[in-house]
Amino acid sequence: ASLLVLHGPNLNLLGTREPATYGAQTLAQINQGLLALAQERGHHLQTLQSNAEYELIERIHSAVSEGIDFIIFNPAAFTHTSIALRDALLGVGIPFIEVHLSNVHRREAFRHHSYFSDIAAGVIVGLGADGYRLALEAAMTKLAEAKS
Ligand code: DQA
Repeated sequence: ASLLVLHGPNLNLLGTREPATYGAQTLAQINQGLLALAQERGHHLQTLQSNAEYELIERIHSAVSEGIDFIIFNPAAFTHTSIALRDALLGVGIPFIEVHLSNVHRREAFRHHSYFSDIAAGVIVGLGADGYRLALEAAMTKLAEAKS
Protein backbone atom coordinates (compact mmCIF):
# COMPACT_ATOMS: atom_id res chain seq x y z
CA ALA A 1 0.00 0.00 0.00
CA SER A 2 0.96 3.68 -0.25
CA LEU A 3 1.38 5.78 2.85
CA LEU A 4 2.08 9.47 3.28
CA VAL A 5 3.64 11.05 6.37
CA LEU A 6 2.95 14.78 6.72
CA HIS A 7 4.78 17.03 9.14
CA GLY A 8 3.58 20.56 9.85
CA PRO A 9 5.38 23.80 10.69
CA ASN A 10 8.65 23.99 12.64
CA LEU A 11 9.13 20.23 12.63
CA ASN A 12 12.07 20.79 10.26
CA LEU A 13 13.83 22.11 13.39
CA LEU A 14 13.57 18.80 15.27
CA GLY A 15 16.83 17.87 16.92
CA THR A 16 17.58 21.43 18.01
CA ARG A 17 14.05 22.67 18.72
CA GLU A 18 13.19 22.49 22.44
CA PRO A 19 14.75 19.01 22.77
CA ALA A 20 13.33 18.58 26.29
CA THR A 21 9.86 18.75 24.74
CA TYR A 22 10.38 17.26 21.28
CA GLY A 23 13.36 14.93 21.68
CA ALA A 24 16.82 14.78 20.15
CA GLN A 25 16.04 13.04 16.87
CA THR A 26 16.09 15.06 13.69
CA LEU A 27 13.22 14.89 11.22
CA ALA A 28 15.54 13.18 8.73
CA GLN A 29 16.26 10.46 11.30
CA ILE A 30 12.57 9.99 12.07
CA ASN A 31 11.70 9.79 8.38
CA GLN A 32 14.54 7.34 7.72
CA GLY A 33 13.23 4.98 10.39
CA LEU A 34 9.71 5.14 8.96
CA LEU A 35 10.91 4.58 5.40
CA ALA A 36 12.94 1.54 6.47
CA LEU A 37 10.03 0.02 8.40
CA ALA A 38 7.52 0.56 5.58
CA GLN A 39 9.91 -0.84 3.00
CA GLU A 40 10.65 -3.90 5.12
CA ARG A 41 6.90 -4.64 5.16
CA GLY A 42 6.52 -4.10 1.43
CA HIS A 43 4.79 -0.72 1.59
CA HIS A 44 5.54 2.49 -0.23
CA LEU A 45 5.99 5.55 2.01
CA GLN A 46 6.50 9.21 1.21
CA THR A 47 7.14 12.09 3.58
CA LEU A 48 6.62 15.84 3.41
CA GLN A 49 7.35 18.58 5.91
CA SER A 50 6.02 22.05 5.23
CA ASN A 51 5.78 25.32 7.10
CA ALA A 52 3.02 26.45 4.74
CA GLU A 53 -0.60 25.49 5.28
CA TYR A 54 -1.43 25.63 1.57
CA GLU A 55 1.38 23.21 0.70
CA LEU A 56 0.00 20.65 3.14
CA ILE A 57 -3.51 21.18 1.75
CA GLU A 58 -2.30 20.72 -1.84
CA ARG A 59 -0.41 17.56 -0.86
CA ILE A 60 -3.54 16.12 0.76
CA HIS A 61 -5.51 16.89 -2.42
CA SER A 62 -2.95 15.27 -4.72
CA ALA A 63 -2.82 12.21 -2.45
CA VAL A 64 -6.09 11.05 -4.04
CA SER A 65 -4.81 10.81 -7.62
CA GLU A 66 -1.57 9.32 -6.30
CA GLY A 67 -3.49 6.49 -4.69
CA ILE A 68 -2.39 7.18 -1.11
CA ASP A 69 -4.19 4.72 1.17
CA PHE A 70 -3.30 6.16 4.55
CA ILE A 71 -1.87 9.38 6.02
CA ILE A 72 0.12 9.85 9.22
CA PHE A 73 -0.09 13.51 10.19
CA ASN A 74 1.57 15.73 12.76
CA PRO A 75 -0.12 19.05 11.99
CA ALA A 76 2.10 20.77 14.64
CA ALA A 77 0.72 24.25 15.47
CA PHE A 78 -1.90 23.91 12.70
CA THR A 79 -3.48 21.26 14.96
CA HIS A 80 -4.93 24.05 17.01
CA THR A 81 -5.82 26.49 14.22
CA SER A 82 -6.54 24.92 10.86
CA ILE A 83 -10.10 24.34 9.75
CA ALA A 84 -8.72 24.36 6.19
CA LEU A 85 -6.54 21.29 6.80
CA ARG A 86 -9.41 19.55 8.59
CA ASP A 87 -11.64 20.23 5.59
CA ALA A 88 -8.96 18.97 3.20
CA LEU A 89 -8.82 15.62 5.01
CA LEU A 90 -12.61 15.38 5.14
CA GLY A 91 -12.70 16.31 1.46
CA VAL A 92 -10.43 13.50 0.31
CA GLY A 93 -11.68 10.93 2.81
CA ILE A 94 -8.27 9.26 3.23
CA PRO A 95 -7.97 7.72 6.72
CA PHE A 96 -5.28 9.23 8.94
CA ILE A 97 -3.64 8.94 12.34
CA GLU A 98 -2.78 12.15 14.20
CA VAL A 99 0.60 12.17 15.94
CA HIS A 100 2.14 14.57 18.45
CA LEU A 101 5.60 14.13 19.89
CA SER A 102 4.78 15.95 23.10
CA ASN A 103 1.88 15.28 25.45
CA VAL A 104 -0.20 18.27 24.35
CA HIS A 105 -2.64 17.67 27.23
CA ARG A 106 0.08 18.35 29.78
CA ARG A 107 0.90 21.68 28.13
CA GLU A 108 -0.77 25.07 27.56
CA ALA A 109 -4.58 25.09 27.34
CA PHE A 110 -4.47 26.24 23.70
CA ARG A 111 -2.81 22.92 22.80
CA HIS A 112 -5.63 20.85 24.30
CA HIS A 113 -7.98 21.35 21.37
CA SER A 114 -7.32 19.68 18.02
CA TYR A 115 -9.22 20.26 14.78
CA PHE A 116 -8.28 16.70 13.78
CA SER A 117 -8.79 14.29 16.67
CA ASP A 118 -12.53 13.73 16.18
CA ILE A 119 -12.08 12.80 12.51
CA ALA A 120 -8.85 10.77 12.93
CA ALA A 121 -8.70 6.97 12.87
CA GLY A 122 -6.57 7.34 16.01
CA VAL A 123 -4.40 9.78 17.92
CA ILE A 124 -0.96 9.23 19.48
CA VAL A 125 0.42 11.90 21.80
CA GLY A 126 3.35 12.21 24.17
CA LEU A 127 5.45 9.23 23.08
CA GLY A 128 8.06 11.22 21.17
CA ALA A 129 9.40 9.95 17.86
CA ASP A 130 8.22 6.47 18.79
CA GLY A 131 4.69 7.77 18.24
CA TYR A 132 5.30 7.93 14.50
CA ARG A 133 6.54 4.34 14.46
CA LEU A 134 3.52 3.17 16.45
CA ALA A 135 1.23 5.08 14.09
CA LEU A 136 2.88 3.42 11.11
CA GLU A 137 2.49 -0.02 12.71
CA ALA A 138 -1.19 0.68 13.36
CA ALA A 139 -1.73 2.00 9.83
CA MET A 140 -0.11 -1.10 8.28
CA THR A 141 -2.25 -3.36 10.46
CA LYS A 142 -5.39 -1.50 9.41
CA LEU A 143 -4.43 -1.70 5.73
CA ALA A 144 -3.81 -5.45 6.01
CA GLU A 145 -7.19 -5.90 7.73
CA ALA A 146 -8.96 -3.88 5.04
CA LYS A 147 -7.40 -6.09 2.33
CA SER A 148 -8.44 -9.42 3.86
C1 DQA B 1 3.27 19.19 18.29
C2 DQA B 1 2.45 19.89 19.38
C3 DQA B 1 1.93 21.24 18.91
O1 DQA B 1 1.19 21.87 19.94
C4 DQA B 1 3.09 22.14 18.53
O2 DQA B 1 2.61 23.36 18.00
C5 DQA B 1 4.06 21.50 17.61
C6 DQA B 1 4.38 20.08 17.76
C7 DQA B 1 3.93 17.89 18.80
O3 DQA B 1 4.35 17.09 17.96
O4 DQA B 1 4.07 17.70 20.02
O5 DQA B 1 4.66 22.16 16.75
O6 DQA B 1 2.39 18.83 17.22
